[in-house]
Amino acid sequence: MTFWLGIDVGTGGTRALLVDRAGRVQHACTAPHEEMKMERPLWAEQRPENWWEAARHAIRGVLAQAKTDGGNVRGIGLSGQMHGLVILDDANRVIRPAIIWCDQRSQAQVDRINQAAGARNVLRWTANPVLTGFTLPKLLWVRDHEPQHFERARKMLLPKDYIRFRLTGDYVSDVSDASGTALFDVVNRRWSLELVDTLQLDRDLLPRVCESSEIAGVVGETAARETGLAAGTPVVGGGGDQACAAVGSGIVAAGVVSCTLGTSGVVFAHSPKPQYDPAGRVHTFCHAVAGAWHVMGVTQGAGLSLEWFRNQLAPGMDYDALTAEAARAPAGSQGLFWLPYLMGERTPHLDASARGGWIGITARHSRADLIRSLLEGVSYSQKDCLDIIEQMGVAVESVRVSGGGARSRFWRQMLADVFGKPVVSLETEEGSAYGAALLALVGTGEYSSVPEVCRAVIHEVDSISPQPDAAKVYAAGHPVYQSLYPALRTFYSRTPS
Ligand code: XUL
Repeated sequence: MTFWLGIDVGTGGTRALLVDRAGRVQHACTAPHEEMKMERPLWAEQRPENWWEAARHAIRGVLAQAKTDGGNVRGIGLSGQMHGLVILDDANRVIRPAIIWCDQRSQAQVDRINQAAGARNVLRWTANPVLTGFTLPKLLWVRDHEPQHFERARKMLLPKDYIRFRLTGDYVSDVSDASGTALFDVVNRRWSLELVDTLQLDRDLLPRVCESSEIAGVVGETAARETGLAAGTPVVGGGGDQACAAVGSGIVAAGVVSCTLGTSGVVFAHSPKPQYDPAGRVHTFCHAVAGAWHVMGVTQGAGLSLEWFRNQLAPGMDYDALTAEAARAPAGSQGLFWLPYLMGERTPHLDASARGGWIGITARHSRADLIRSLLEGVSYSQKDCLDIIEQMGVAVESVRVSGGGARSRFWRQMLADVFGKPVVSLETEEGSAYGAALLALVGTGEYSSVPEVCRAVIHEVDSISPQPDAAKVYAAGHPVYQSLYPALRTFYSRTPS
C-alpha cells in the first residue's frame, strides 16, 4: 500500500498521519512536546530541538502502526503552529529557544516598527497591522535584548520550516505561514523587501518561499536514518496550521467557514482576493490554495482555557469528564462570564496586555458553572470573530468545526447555540495534519488542485442546529460578555508584569 504523510507541529505535540491515495486516514500518531516555558506572564517559548524529537517519534510511530517502511510514503506535507521565531547560526545550530505564537513580550517593538515604517505603510506592504504575536517583533525583541544572539543569526525559520530543514536541509517556507511573519507581502505572495530594508534587516535571514502544494525539497540521508523515511521522498511547501486545518475541512471555496478549537480558536473564511477588516481585527493571509487568500479571527486562549483549568484546578481529570461536569450547569452559567485572555487577545481587541478571569462569581456558583462559563466565554469570543467576518460580506450558512474542542458534542451544540447557526462535523476531523497530507497528494500529482482533492475526499456527516432556548440565553449573554473587556481595559494596562 502507498501512503502520503502529513506532519503537524502543534503546541502540545507533533502529529504524523498517513492517508491513502483516496485521502482516507489510515494511521496517526502524536508525540507530546515538553510544556511551553513561561518565564514571565504572557511569555511563551519552546525548544525547536524538542519539536524535532517529537517529529521523529511520531513519524517512526505512524510507520510502525502501518507496518511499513518509508519507501511506501510517496510524499510529505508539513503544517505547524504559526508565527514562532526560530533562529539558526552559521553552523545551523538553534541559537535560543523559539519565541512562539502566543508570546506577548514585544509591544515596544511593534510600536517602533510602526514609527519607523509608518502604520499605513505596514498595512500597504503586508496587508495586516503588525501584532505582538507575529514573528517580526519577536526578531526585533531579540535584536534589542539579546544582541549577542541576534548577531549570530543567519536564518530565521517558522516552526514547521525548522522541521523541514531537519528533513531536507533546505531553508524554505510557504506563502500561508510566511503571511504571519509581518514581513510578507500578502497581496503579491513574496517577502516585503520594502519593510525588510526599512528595518535594516539582512535579506539573507529569510528563507525561500513557495506555494503550499509545490514540491520544495526531498528527505536527505541523515533524516532518513533518523526517521525511517526514505531519502529522496518529496516534501511539499505545506502551510500554517490554520491554512492546513482549512484544507482538511474543505474551506477552499467561498461560502463555507470553519471554526478550529485547538490551543487557540480560529474562525476561518476562504477569499478569492485579499479582503480586509478596516480595523485589522482579523488577519488577511495567503491561503494554502494557489491564487487564493483567507481571513481569520483568532481567540488566543481557546482550548488553552480548558487546559489551564484542568492543570491548575482539576489535576487528573480528563476533558470528557470536564465537559460532562459543565453540562450539569444551566446555559449562561447563572450569570458567570469567563474572559479567555490567558495570553492577551487578538480578535477583536488586539491587546497584548489583556488578562483572563471570571466576572460575576457568587457563593452559589459550583465548579460545573466555572467550567461551563469557560466554554461559553471561548464560544462568545469565537462568535466575535464570526461576526466580523460576516460584517466583511462573507455569507455564512453553516460552520464546519474541527480541532480537539470540537470532539465534544456538548461544546459543538454550545457553538451552534452561541453562533445561532448550524454547526457541521466532517467525516475526518483531523484538521491540520490531514490538510498537510492532502497538500502532499496534490504536490505529487495525484490530484490536479487543492479544491479538487477537497471535493473528492471531504464529506459532511453531522449537522447540529441551534436549540431555541439556549440560543436565547446566549443572544442575551453575548452583549454582556462584550461589555466586560472595555470596562477592564484600563486595569490591564496598569497591571504590573
Ligand atoms: C494563528 C495562531 C495559532 C497558532 C497555533 O494565527 O497563532 O493558531 O498557529 O495554533
